Amino acid sequence: MTLGGCVSPFMRNGIPNIQKKERVIVLGDFQYSNPTKLYFGEHSLEGLNQELPRYGKNVLLVYGGGSIKKNGIYDQVLDILRANGKTVFEDAGVMPNPTVEKLYEGCRRAREGKVDLILAVGGGSVCDYAKAVSVSAYCEEDPWEKYYLRMEDVDNRILPVGCVLTMVGTGSEMNGGSVITNHEQKRKIGHVFGDNVFPKFSILNPTYTYTLPPYQMKAGFFDIMSHILEQYFSGEDDNTSDYLMEGLLRSLIHSTRIAVKNPTDYEARSNIMWIATWALNTLVAKGKSTDWMVHMIGQSIGAFTDATHGMTLSAVSVPYYRFILPYGLPKFKRYAVNVWDVSPDGKTDEEIAAEGLDRMVAYMDEIGLVRNARELGVTEEMLEGIADGSFIMEGGYKVLSHEDIVAILKESMKA
Ligand code: NZQ
Ligand code: ZN
Repeated sequence: MTLGGCVSPFMRNGIPNIQKKERVIVLGDFQYSNPTKLYFGEHSLEGLNQELPRYGKNVLLVYGGGSIKKNGIYDQVLDILRANGKTVFEDAGVMPNPTVEKLYEGCRRAREGKVDLILAVGGGSVCDYAKAVSVSAYCEEDPWEKYYLRMEDVDNRILPVGCVLTMVGTGSEMNGGSVITNHEQKRKIGHVFGDNVFPKFSILNPTYTYTLPPYQMKAGFFDIMSHILEQYFSGEDDNTSDYLMEGLLRSLIHSTRIAVKNPTDYEARSNIMWIATWALNTLVAKGKSTDWMVHMIGQSIGAFTDATHGMTLSAVSVPYYRFILPYGLPKFKRYAVNVWDVSPDGKTDEEIAAEGLDRMVAYMDEIGLVRNARELGVTEEMLEGIADGSFIMEGGYKVLSHEDIVAILKESMKA
């Protein structure tokens, strides 16, 4: 194991994940801490009673388009807030892929309510948005420019965030990621904030995810898989993180197969919820390089189409991994054998690696994931723009050119 430094997903302080092409990666020692306290399980909402007394009276309750009102989570949360004597200000209507305009509105609400805590009740979009408001409400500059275009650190007051998670996939419940979309500029950009912006606590009740529409549930499943693969397919050293990720992937494949057939299987849904958190709570990225190119292309597709995040990743992944396979053959072989149980006997490395990806394709089709970008509204006319909007990361097995991205997108449109 080459002990690499703390390599954050996407970008940090304007510095993308940069590793040398020859992949001799010695980035120095790293620090590890994760400040988010988790409450997990069927009775985990009780944890709110423990957390709320730590914060002042004014709470900004942030949620999405109304699913929490239909499934009763809203009422449960409001009862606990009231029982704890909180004054509740509401900020509803956070859309999937939250926009910069909504962020400005949230900042106004947070300031007007002089809020002491932002409580996000929803999926990754609501949690991401809450973090964006937390760092932006008292920011004297335009937060889009400061945090998302210039990738600067926070130097103003940060409002604490807590999460009640209702959709599984992003890992936003235990990380500093916050992705905001600017439709006018056709840019969807994630800033990975430091651990002072991580949620102070997150409540993870697997039964809250039962009401997810199948499309969202499956998109979340692939988002988890993609987070793991983005961190797995980079580097070639003997790294503990890679063994951890193989275990997470095997458990994910096993549990998602059960959950698509029986969405209320508690064992499967709780395993998936826990895997999602560990897939992107910074642990498995420690001590190794990471890629994130699938996310960069997927986010750019999102900026053009507003498509569901996980499905943008599933549409791009197979053509991307087939494209980079020759540059990372040993790892693709290891993936085939250790994750997909491909027998290596009597086969060349290329054959083993290709069979691993074939099994991944069969799994994706079994689960019902989008593999053709056309299904997300991508058209030929958009391809150059999507490639332009994709940040080029350098931690993967091949640094992509603009033409490479266009070729990968064209492959997806043939799938
Ligand atoms: O808005 P409501 O009515 O609540 O409906 C939501 C929304 O339409 C619905 N939903 C959520 N929980 C539900 C439910 N419907 C029924 N029952 C429930 N229990 O699901 C829809 C999608 O929700 P959303 O929050 O958008 O999904 P997700 O969790 O996938 O979040 C996507 C956002 O997170 C970003 C993505 O780019 C995207 O903007 N990401 C954040 C990351 C991070 N913080 O580290 C990393 C990820 O790679 C990702 O980029
Ligand atoms: Zn993702």
